[in-house]
Amino acid sequence: MRQGKGFAHGKIILIGEHSVVYGKPAIAVPFPSTKITALVSEANTEITIDCLFYRGLLKKMPELLASLHKAIDLTLELLNKEMPLSIKIESSIPAERGMGSSAAVSVATIRAIFDYYETPLSYKQLLDIVAESEKIAHGNPSGLDALMTSSTTPYFFIKNEVCEPITLNMEAVLIVADTGQTGKTKQAVADVASQMRSPETQKFIQVLGEYSQEAKNYLENNQPDKLGDVMTQAHTLLQKLNVSNESLDHLVSVSLANGALGAKLTGGGRGGCMIALAKNITDAKHISKQLKAQGAKQTWLYEMSELNEQP
Ligand code: PMV
Repeated sequence: MRQGKGFAHGKIILIGEHSVVYGKPAIAVPFPSTKITALVSEANTEITIDCLFYRGLLKKMPELLASLHKAIDLTLELLNKEMPLSIKIESSIPAERGMGSSAAVSVATIRAIFDYYETPLSYKQLLDIVAESEKIAHGNPSGLDALMTSSTTPYFFIKNEVCEPITLNMEAVLIVADTGQTGKTKQAVADVASQMRSPETQKFIQVLGEYSQEAKNYLENNQPDKLGDVMTQAHTLLQKLNVSNESLDHLVSVSLANGALGAKLTGGGRGGCMIALAKNITDAKHISKQLKAQGAKQTWLYEMSELNEQP
């Protein structure tokens, strides 16, 4: 039986979330531990979906998956196809945790449908469709999630510009910790937008962009102490933008109290995940243990150099 396959993975924003929506740079890495596979095959009468959140007809899919629905509709429209399909999606990306799960599910599904029809998919076509589907998930997406969930390398990303892949030259360990709470990206992005008339908010966005510029230099020149500082300062500004929450702040404090070089929330915020930077694996294991003892549901540890190339 003919089958189409598509893949995507999670992403971690090292710095620049929210300010990236306003044209400031952000740095993100593909997150190898979390993956999505979509499989497309022939169906009898209608398009069906089988994923963790829903099993049934596409036309009856719940509102929660509206962005995926949009991605499928736009893909079939572009391909000019109306045939019934069975779409099966398997994901290890925790949903709504700041890892780009909504973009990743669209990326994997679009790739699988194109593969099923044996039609080449350009990168521009992929990013354009995900940009539309992400408007439903995020309101005003920067495009960072679409790029990072489909890319194999870290990026210095600026909205609507040709972006630069970067190589992390850093001896340090990244800890990712999940608060276990769902993030509220769409709400947080909308709330920042509603504050944008304030000169103070504009200043915060400006400075967050400057931190991303500095972070690029530190990442490329093995300066983990300085990167750590700038991460923690970015967290303070994200708190001021009101996109953090108690759990994220708590895990950031626990990391810093246990020897992290820096720590911050990652992604949309108000739940989801945080990241911390440790000097070495011994420190990272200690911090990770403390984070779990203080409420983190799950942690992942990575040597920074491991994040340069998605396997
Ligand atoms: O919460 P996530 O993984 O979807 O990341 C959102 C990142 C933001 O900068 C807050 C929004 C965006 O579109 O870039």
